[in-house]
Parts: sequence; C-alpha cells; structure tokens
Amino acid sequence: MRVGVLTGGGDCPGLNAVIRAVVRKGERHYGDQLVGFVDGWRGVIEGSTKDLDVGRCRGILPRGGTILGSSRTNPYKVDGGVDAVKASMATARIDALIAIGGEDTLGVAHKLGAEKLNVVGVPKTIDNDLSATELTFGFHTAVQICVDAIDRLHTTAESHDRVMVCEVMGRHAGWIATYAGIAGGAAEILIPEQPFDIADVAERIRRRHEQGRFATIVVVAEGASPKEGTLELASGDVDQFGHVRLGGVGNVVAQEIERRTGFETRVTILGHIQRGGTPTAFDRVLATRFGIAAIDAVHDGAFGHMVALQAGEIVPVPLADAVGELKTVPPDHFANVALPFFG
Ligand code: F6P
Repeated sequence: MRVGVLTGGGDCPGLNAVIRAVVRKGERHYGDQLVGFVDGWRGVIEGSTKDLDVGRCRGILPRGGTILGSSRTNPYKVDGGVDAVKASMATARIDALIAIGGEDTLGVAHKLGAEKLNVVGVPKTIDNDLSATELTFGFHTAVQICVDAIDRLHTTAESHDRVMVCEVMGRHAGWIATYAGIAGGAAEILIPEQPFDIADVAERIRRRHEQGRFATIVVVAEGASPKEGTLELASGDVDQFGHVRLGGVGNVVAQEIERRTGFETRVTILGHIQRGGTPTAFDRVLATRFGIAAIDAVHDGAFGHMVALQAGEIVPVPLADAVGELKTVPPDHFANVALPFFG
C-alpha cells in the first residue's frame, strides 16, 4: 500500500516517535511505501510531499517537533481545499492516510471520511483534551517540563517570600495545570473549567502567609477565566479553527494578587517551552504504541477510526467519538485531588 502521513496543529513531543513506528512497521512488516505530507493539511492541499523510509527516520525517536512540519491549515476554510485534498491524494496514489493531530486535525480527518477518503487518526496534543482516549502523547512531557519549572520557582520564591504565578498551556482544558499543580505543590490552580474569583484566591493566599507559609505557587492555565464581572481580560486574534490566541491571564492574576494582598508577586509564562524538546520515556513508548496501532488499523481497513488508549490497551475508536466533545477536567476529579491542597 501507499500510505500518507501528516502531522497537524501545534507540534508536540512524540510526533517523530509516531512517524518512526508507522514507517518501521509499514515498511518492514507490510512492505508499504510511506509518503509524508509537509506541514499538515497544507501539504495535502498543495501536494507537497516527502518520502519516508526507515533510513530517513534514524535518530528521530528522541527528537522533539516533527520532521514533517506542521500547520493549523483547515482545508474546509481554504477555497477549493477539499477538492485539492482529493486531487493530491489521487496524484500521489495514496491508498490511506494517517493523520496525527488534535481535535482540529482529526475533525478534518473525520469529515474527509464522509468524502470516502481512507483516514486513520492518531491522538496528539499536550493539552490531553481529546475524548475517547485516556491520554494523548505529549501531555506527560509537558507536565514534566512544568513541574521542573515549578520546582525551580519554589526555591527562589522561598528566598524572597514571594508569590509565584506560573502560566501554563491549556486553552479549553486544565489538564496540564491540574497535574503540574498537584505534582508541583501549588497552593492555587486556576483552570478553564472552573471560573475563579480573584478575591477568594487573594484571600486564601493572605491567610496562608498569615500562618507563616510563604513561597506560594499559583498555577494558571492560559484559558482560565474569571467569574463574570470580577475581572477584565483582553482577548486575542483567532486562527483558522476559530481558536483565540491566548497568553496573558497570568500577568493579570499576578498583578491582582499583589494589589489585593500586598505580597510581592512575580509571573512566569512557560509558553512554547512546554511543547519543545525531547519527549519523556513514557511519551516515546505511548507514541510508538500509537504508531504501530495506526499502521495496523490501516491494514485492518479501520478507516474513520482513531487509535486510543483505553484501560491500558490501544484500541480503535470511531473518529466521531474523539472529536465530538472536548475531554475536560471533571469537577469531582479536581475537587478530590487538587482542592485539598489549596491555600
Ligand atoms: O493545542 C496545543 C496548544 O499548545 C495549546 O495549549 C495552546 O493554546 C496552543 O497550542 C498554542 O498554539 P500556537 O503554537 O499556535 O501559539
């Protein structure tokens, strides 16, 4: 078979591990020819390809980013985009396509299934917000990067009796903030799922310092928002999938904490550091398992499906189940493991 591979959306540690696994099993076990599309759906629209074989994948397992490049191009938002996708798949004689991406890339994959294109999805996002899979690769690495940073913030916070606000990624789901906050010993975790009241946050921090406990760490997800009417946040530009470009809530939270408590407060925005660099061993293994399962799914004819982690096993699930609704942090989970450590 001729199998196409693309990586779409924001990059994520572990993408190269998936590509390597697909290529290794595809070429060695199935005798496939693998074709990489450059820069996600943009490469498919433009017919921009790159040959993939075992030799070209040597040494990429520990490398962050993606050797195929990525973009947030949406064929449904480009004039003639879907026809161009069909034409370029035909020109490159692609029998099946493996799309590695998050809700946007896989949302497109799902729609293209209705156009009779043979697509299999692989769940990628540091945000861990895809439904139908217990984990996406990249999440573990992002959380580890955040926790390493928070551990460092702790010692400087202790030296100066400061409050440290650490802004992490997660525009609609607070998985990174929740897990990094728990593992990093944060005194406050603000997530998009639970609008915060800055007055309550400041009051808890004031009481904590009264008890002689300084070095307060506040983890804020970039998509965290205040309860209506309590605080103003500026809004940003929108991309082709309609997502607002975020980054900045940490500054506002830090200013307000300092203003309301009088405690010196600093902010660190981790930004794309969370997406860069080498994947953890856990993510390398998960990404490899996803890659192997994806090429198997192609040969099983499981088109319109995504490979997913469920109860420790990698299983195919309908793409429709993965992209219908975002997987957010359940309130009871947050209440059980995060809230007891607030203040
Ligand atoms: O979707 C993953 C993600 O890292 C989000 O957490 C973040 O909001 C967004 O991508 C940032 O996107 P960009 O790289 O386009 O700034």
